Amino acid sequence: MMRIFLLLLAFSIFNLCSAQNLGALLFSGNCITCHHPTKTISAPSAAEVKKRYKEAFEDKEEFVSYMATWVKKPTPEGSLMHDAIKKYGVMPELGFDEETLRVISKYIYENDFTKHETGY
Ligand code: HEC
Repeated sequence: MMRIFLLLLAFSIFNLCSAQNLGALLFSGNCITCHHPTKTISAPSAAEVKKRYKEAFEDKEEFVSYMATWVKKPTPEGSLMHDAIKKYGVMPELGFDEETLRVISKYIYENDFTKHETGY
């Protein structure tokens, strides 16, 4: 009985950690090539994108759902960064499903890019 309990405990802790790390992993694998944590190279930095979205949406759920929806299908009309579009062109569509993009958007909301660059 105890052993099963410990096993379940270990499993839940593992799940908690991996949910957070999954966002970091997905961001590092798919977004960081264009969005450096703090430097603007070929696209606005992750810190800059986050700042703009936070200015527009104080609420975490609104931030996450707007970002996930926009990244799923980037359009100039829905953009919060028209200046960036002028400079770099509209971001390409990457083909992720909305659930994955919500995980990434949550990570962007939670992670302080100015402190630890990739969240690890
Ligand atoms: C091939 C390069 C590239 C990749 C890869 C990329 N982006 Fe972008 N992204 C851009 C560029 C360029 C802009 C600025 C122009 C714009 O806003 O459309 C941008 C803008 C954005 C914006 C601001 C949108 C707005 O205009 O309001 C968000 C949010 C964003 N990216 C999220 C992501 C996420 C999340 C990923 C990874 C899943 C990602 N991007 C991957 C190039 C990229």
